[in-house]
Amino acid sequence: MLPWPTSEILLNELDPVRELFLNTVRYVKDILSEAEAGHDWNHVQRVYQNTLAILEEEERSGGHQNGVAVLAVWGALLHDVADEKFHPEPDHPNRHSVERFVAQLPFSDLQKAGINHLIEWVSFKNSFDGDRSEELAKDPSWTKALHILRDADRLDALGAVGLARAFHYGGYKNRLFFDQEILPVVYKDSKAYHKSAAPTINHFYEKLLRLKGSMHTQAGKKEAENRHQFLLQYLQQFYTELGYSSPPPGFELGSFE
Ligand code: ADP
Ligand code: NI
Repeated sequence: MLPWPTSEILLNELDPVRELFLNTVRYVKDILSEAEAGHDWNHVQRVYQNTLAILEEEERSGGHQNGVAVLAVWGALLHDVADEKFHPEPDHPNRHSVERFVAQLPFSDLQKAGINHLIEWVSFKNSFDGDRSEELAKDPSWTKALHILRDADRLDALGAVGLARAFHYGGYKNRLFFDQEILPVVYKDSKAYHKSAAPTINHFYEKLLRLKGSMHTQAGKKEAENRHQFLLQYLQQFYTELGYSSPPPGFELGSFE
């Protein structure tokens, strides 16, 4: 079941739109019913849960800003309806569908533009091409909400769930687990990143182990550190099982961080 906030400030902001929240949940669940397991309704639920946890922590530390919770929550629910990796076509029906869905929400135009901004800028891919999200934000609440949502989404790429998602994605793409001859690389841009067909272990170095350094919020940083340590432990065990006494050349832990 989806958690609901317990703290007073968050409840003040979210309780009045609870019905709308449930409508949005129904829409997302339905449209993602056929989605691949790494980006399906379960991913959205986890991202929503991480978003709430970060919002509550922000509130406890006095960093809560009005209007941020609505943006972050709707951003969390809608952010992967038209994921580019699975729907690269600019006029894929899901893209139009989510645009129409946001347009009819009974929020202000500024809030709706904020939700679209989050959907556009949440993804890791944009960090290759230069992050212009702050300069394009029309309100400080957009940037705050984006930072929370990015952290929430990135946490789901780390830890035990992140590990499952990576191998699931690798299987979906028929990738090798590991090949000592195919070394991890630093991609220059998002095109090169998306073109790569490298083994799944490389993805740990190329993306996952770097996420910890890109977290924005205190709560996000703390949880990313835990989940990061788990991935390191996993890699160590993986190489041990293959008979390596330490990570092979090019796969040292700590490289690419
Ligand atoms: P985001 O949705 O945050 O932009 P991606 O769409 O790139 O991130 O990735 C979503 C999930 O799929 C993540 O858990 C990520 O680790 C996994 N994934 C993406 N690319 C690969 C890959 N080349 N190998 C293994 N897993 C991948
Ligand atoms: Ni996501």
